[in-house]
Amino acid sequence: MRPLSSSQDLPHASRPPRYPLAIIGAGALGLHFAARLAATIPVAVVARSAIRAGQLHAGVMVGDALFQADAHAPGALPEADWVIVLVKAGDTADAGRLAAAMRPLGVLSLQNGLTGAVLRDAVHAARPDEDGPPPRVEQGITTEGAFRDGDRVTPSGAGDTLLPPGFEAVAELLSRAGFRTRIEPDIAAARLAKLLVNLAINPLAALFRVPNGALCDPPYRVHLDALVREAWPVLHAKGLPLDEDGAHARVVAVARATGANRASMLQDVLAGRRTEIDAITGVFLDMAARHGAEAPTHHAVFTLVKQIEAG
Ligand SMILES: NC(=O)c1ccc[n+]([C@@H]2O[C@H](COP(=O)([O-])OP(=O)(O)OC[C@H]3O[C@@H](n4cnc5c(N)ncnc54)[C@H](OP(=O)(O)O)[C@@H]3O)[C@@H](O)[C@H]2O)c1
Repeated sequence: MRPLSSSQDLPHASRPPRYPLAIIGAGALGLHFAARLAATIPVAVVARSAIRAGQLHAGVMVGDALFQADAHAPGALPEADWVIVLVKAGDTADAGRLAAAMRPLGVLSLQNGLTGAVLRDAVHAARPDEDGPPPRVEQGITTEGAFRDGDRVTPSGAGDTLLPPGFEAVAELLSRAGFRTRIEPDIAAARLAKLLVNLAINPLAALFRVPNGALCDPPYRVHLDALVREAWPVLHAKGLPLDEDGAHARVVAVARATGANRASMLQDVLAGRRTEIDAITGVFLDMAARHGAEAPTHHAVFTLVKQIEAG
């Protein structure tokens, strides 16, 4: 399981190298992570197609620098010790199948929404028969930010990246590349806190087409408060470490701190793309149903965002 050091180290020229790290999803966040990591270790970037891999190999602007990615197409994947998944939530199962083919020790999602179960099922179902123990598959969280403008990726703010226990090697690689990273022993609680914020801000920003900060004031605030009020008992029962006032305060603080930002769901709606509503509100509605809780405002925003997607 030796990290790739140079092409001369390969036992055979036609054999694909084994990378210390691969990133599936050459979008805004994937390229932001890959470009910084590639300054310290070899990073395989998995693109959606051979054409896209060729473009990434030729170079893409990430921030102010040209990044010539070590890009691979789904049909010609190298092996990798660790795989980070940064596709949109709706593409998680596809990414899981690709990750399994890279025979990793572990697969880490840093996506929004709760995608861990879909990713785990896809990775384990697609594992090559002769493989030993199954790879660890877990979801961390990140508040790093980046956006795509045409073919250019612009980092939009440093954040914190929290990884589950078992991913210490990945934390080390990310830290060395300059990302603020730590292992979070209660990663499930951290995921719920991020889900709470996404549940409240994303659908409303998308439906009303306003930047995050506007949601803290009338006429939107009443809806933001309703979403938090309905979400809190369910998430608290699942382990969210905030009381109800704390939950409201957390959501408002994030909306204000990112006041000028357009939430990713708003960007998706404006671009006519599929949103991540299934992995955010959809997953929450399933949780609420199992908990026996009413969540009418979440039902309403879910239906409306789905109607926009369909239209
Ligand atoms: N951007 C941020 O600031 C930010 C912050 C925190 C969390 N996140 C989360 O991170 C995830 C990625 O977000 P993003 O903004 O980077 O999205 P994005 O720019 O849309 O990038 C996703 C990339 O995945 C690629 N892809 C989709 N299916 C694939 C497949 N089967 N194989 C290989 N590549 C595939 C897409 O290819 P195409 O271009 O061909 O579609 C696209 O390049 C999302 O869950 C998001 O919520 C983003």
